[in-house]
Amino acid sequence: MIKADLSGGMSFFPKGGLEALAPQLQTAHRALLEGTGAGAEYTGWVELPRRYDREEFSRIQRAAEDIRTHSDALVVIGIGGSYLGARAALELLRSPYYNLKKKDTPDVFFAGNTLSGDALGDILELLGDRDFSVNVISKSGTTLEPAVAFRTFKDLLERKYGREGAKRRIFATTDKSRGALRTLAQENGYTCFSVPDDIGGRYSVLTAVGLLPMAASGISTGMVMAGAEEAMEALAAQNMENPAWLYAAGRNLLYGQGKRIEVLAYFEPAFRFMGEWWKQLFGESEGKGGRGIFPASVEYTADLHSMGQYIQDGERGLFETMVRFLKPRKDLSVAPEATNADGLDFLTGRGLQEIQEQARLGTKIAHADGGVPNLLLTAEEISERTFGQLVYFFELSCGLSGYLLGVNPFDQPGVEAYKRNMMALMGKPGTERERAEINARIAS
Ligand code: PA5
Repeated sequence: MIKADLSGGMSFFPKGGLEALAPQLQTAHRALLEGTGAGAEYTGWVELPRRYDREEFSRIQRAAEDIRTHSDALVVIGIGGSYLGARAALELLRSPYYNLKKKDTPDVFFAGNTLSGDALGDILELLGDRDFSVNVISKSGTTLEPAVAFRTFKDLLERKYGREGAKRRIFATTDKSRGALRTLAQENGYTCFSVPDDIGGRYSVLTAVGLLPMAASGISTGMVMAGAEEAMEALAAQNMENPAWLYAAGRNLLYGQGKRIEVLAYFEPAFRFMGEWWKQLFGESEGKGGRGIFPASVEYTADLHSMGQYIQDGERGLFETMVRFLKPRKDLSVAPEATNADGLDFLTGRGLQEIQEQARLGTKIAHADGGVPNLLLTAEEISERTFGQLVYFFELSCGLSGYLLGVNPFDQPGVEAYKRNMMALMGKPGTERERAEINARIAS
């Protein structure tokens, strides 16, 4: 199970602060379990690992099998919560180099997460004339980026396979009854999967949103869900032994001491998109009403040679949360060198995992000397099971932490503002007045 170690942050906590948070954590935890807190209508993820729809889960496995059989590539179209979890799983559990590897599962391309012609054009070029399928994912069914990309790939599929052939290659994951994508899917007869009403985008990785791309790329989604269920059981404890309580408490205590930036530091490049997923989860959940820890992520040791300077020595408003895996997927040792010209013979034969751990400890001490509190999260290994555990751990910690902070961790009113402006500027019918106002501001 995931462990949280706050020892590197303790000296920065106010005296008695951790114990004093216990009653608030209990209230927050009960509110999540009983569905009585702010945004309770979006807490379906709390019991999801036990209660998920087994029938839909089987349909996901069949669709994944169908994709693997008929396609050399899968284009996964989505943004934000409809994108990051699947990519995080693919990179962590298969490889950041997944598409370049020899394998019996399709290449996976992620589209619809930008408004970049270059990015879309590159995917089209890489697809070439290979057989492919599309999984278009949008809970609202109205998000611009995936909708624009879907037009391109739908058109390509229809030209390549005809309307009937295309329909068998399009898998839509969306709201069960509302939205433009649901309408389009129903009218065209696409295979559909639902995002449950009570689960918001950034908490949806363990629904069809994440599970279909994972299953298509050969990840054992059964093991992912088993790991999440283990975490759900282990993290049900309502006491200060609970790692999710500890993590939520630690970060809030540090925030209260003026540490406004949390730097999630990981040592496995395969964790990069878990970092992106984590940033969305915490940033979108907590950053509201003028409050919230700013979530940043760094990849060590690469970023020790860049951001390391700032973390060591820049503004002191940050704390660091390190993520450690006890067992890597592969461990390699340092090769011998006949002349020892680099003076590194003392490392010959020693595993990179061992060296990485010493780098972690050395960094922790150096950053502590620089006034940076350190929290540590440890997972046993990189596996489907621990991925499920981590997802549930972070979701629960985020819900608890948001309630401690006094915000609704399940809404995101702030992300609408840019969309309204963009749509008005692009000439959406009915936005004429806003467009005139915005253009006047741009011109002034
Ligand atoms: O967490 C969220 O709700 C958002 O990040 C959404 O996931 C993102 O905006 C994509 O929305 P949709 O799935 O409706 O296209």
